[in-house]
Amino acid sequence: TSTPRTLEKKVLLAAPRGYCAGVDRAVITVEKALDLYGSPIYVRKQIVHNKHVVETLEQRGAIFVEELDEVPTGATVVFSAHGVSPAVQTEAKDRGLKAIDATCPLVTKVHHEARRFARDDLQVLLIGHAGHEEVEGTTGEAPDHITLVQSPEDVDALDVPDPTKVAWLSQTTLSVDETMEIVGKLRKKLPLLIDPPSDDICYATQNRQLAVKQIARQADLVIVVGSANSSNSVRLVEVALENGAAASYRVDNATEIDPAWLDGVSVVGVTSGASVPEDLVTGVLDFLQEKGFPAAEEERLTEESLVFALPPELRKDLRKGA
Ligand code: F3S
Repeated sequence: TSTPRTLEKKVLLAAPRGYCAGVDRAVITVEKALDLYGSPIYVRKQIVHNKHVVETLEQRGAIFVEELDEVPTGATVVFSAHGVSPAVQTEAKDRGLKAIDATCPLVTKVHHEARRFARDDLQVLLIGHAGHEEVEGTTGEAPDHITLVQSPEDVDALDVPDPTKVAWLSQTTLSVDETMEIVGKLRKKLPLLIDPPSDDICYATQNRQLAVKQIARQADLVIVVGSANSSNSVRLVEVALENGAAASYRVDNATEIDPAWLDGVSVVGVTSGASVPEDLVTGVLDFLQEKGFPAAEEERLTEESLVFALPPELRKDLRKGA
């Protein structure tokens, strides 16, 4: 009889992973607003797309609403990291709300690009997902000038008013590879297509995708920590599968891991989306250790050092002590 071969078990932890500068700033904005003004602080939409973060802030006195008509007149409202359309800004002003804008500066940058292209009377082909808050916010900058493109198939059906006056932009949290495929198709169809002045897919999305590619190549299973509505987290599962992982699943936390996923698996990769607090990753690593896996080895692709200043309207009150 031969003894079964025991493969060496390993856990590879991708880096960078987890919080990006925009999420960090948005979460701190709500925390500081609660400290400074007291509860309740209203937040329009989930401040970042993570269940755990939202629940924690709720416990501290934040109230999450879908639309501004749920916020009482005169109350303080924080706009989420995904951005809002100008119509929402105006509504807040008209309603006498104290608004703090936690839109990620890298999303604001895309809003500026959309406004500028629209001013130049270009049709903007916005690559992104229908219904995502960021897409709704960006589209609101120039609704008549923006056409949503969701997939390579959408390019075939695309009909623009003037093929000599077109530009493209994208949501910040897409798959880099898929977006480039769509842009390639767009350019074939519209040779005069104008590029954005700089990458719209943000540094954090790009780095997390490159880092997961590196571990996916070596892993039998890649576990991505992130919520179901987190665009960049969902993309990490797709990128892992497209780049060699035999299986990949997204979980909100360790309790969602099905132990059967680990059957016959020797190398597990772990990463997390840009809205995920590190303790949720630690929970997954602890779970894997309980299942007989060794301590994780981190594979770091690059360092990140970007930090964004808090929204100016909050900084002003913090200086005054409100
Ligand atoms: Fe901003 Fe990118 Fe994070 S757009 S919120 S830095 S995922």
